[in-house]
Amino acid sequence: MEQWQERLEKSGSLEELENLRIEIFGKKGFFAKEFEKLKTLPKEEKPRVAKELNIAKERLFKALQAKKDKLLAKEIEKKLKSESIDVSLYSPKGFKGAYHPVNHTMDKIIEYFISLNYSIETGPLVEDDFYNFEALNLPKYHPARDMQDTFYFKDGKLLRTHTSPVQIRTMQKERPPIRMISPGAVFRRDYDLTHTPMFHQVEGLVVDEKGKVSFANLKFILEDFLHYMFGDVKVRFRPSFFPFTEPSAEVDISCIFCKGEGCRVCSHTGWLEVLGCGMVDPNVFEAVGYKDVSGYAFGLGVERFAMLIHQIPDLRVLFEGDIRLLEQFR
Ligand code: DAH
Repeated sequence: MEQWQERLEKSGSLEELENLRIEIFGKKGFFAKEFEKLKTLPKEEKPRVAKELNIAKERLFKALQAKKDKLLAKEIEKKLKSESIDVSLYSPKGFKGAYHPVNHTMDKIIEYFISLNYSIETGPLVEDDFYNFEALNLPKYHPARDMQDTFYFKDGKLLRTHTSPVQIRTMQKERPPIRMISPGAVFRRDYDLTHTPMFHQVEGLVVDEKGKVSFANLKFILEDFLHYMFGDVKVRFRPSFFPFTEPSAEVDISCIFCKGEGCRVCSHTGWLEVLGCGMVDPNVFEAVGYKDVSGYAFGLGVERFAMLIHQIPDLRVLFEGDIRLLEQFR
């Protein structure tokens, strides 16, 4: 036994250890032979010798296992060392990477609102009906729910279709005055030139005591924001409808490609729609238990902004992960 133990200790590689295992435990190995010899022993001796053999076998097997673990660890360490990459190595030909245009646009938007002391709020991507629809004045069977093609889970949960649910979550956890934006991913069952199933929105919400927040404030902020994003453009507010705001408006900028003269991008109207907004509907305040407050909200699609700023004709290329796209934005 001692000699096996010693040879186990000394074996220097997994291969050597495997050969030793066969020698000791294999079909024609040491223990097989020893057990075979039992047959020739007198009957009274058999149980004692068999017991001793089994104990020894177990002990050696454990030793083998322990040795194997050690050798394996060593081998992995060796492999890691040999495969390690020197990240400080300079490669003149290597692709240097670039910031994704969507991130870039998102950062610029966030930067603007941080400068006005808005807080940045986030919420879960998997939402429930209450936050995504109900509390936003979209009761069950409301026709406006059709506007958004929702991904549902079997248990009734859903992938949020807009960042508006974060309004509700923020109002539940804070008290007015509130001044927030909520950037993040949203999901809809859509796929064509200008739609992808995942895209990004930024939601804005301002709430204060009744009378302190007006449509005029909203208009001022959004005009200033759009000038910050797009430079010298005209801005117009068009009456529109959203369930969570009343009154509601959509905001257009004069087409940045044709300067308002009419081209393919603006469908020859001279205008590009870029935002939705309005005064928060009283039903939304009721859903979160707010009284005697007023507020405004707005929402925008980040990819739409990025497409306009960088003149990207097909939205889908932004999410295909083709490095050649990013190389153009270095
Ligand atoms: N949630 C809207 C959407 O996904 C965008 C939006 C429009 C948000 C108007 C607002 C708003 O807060 O006032 O289409």
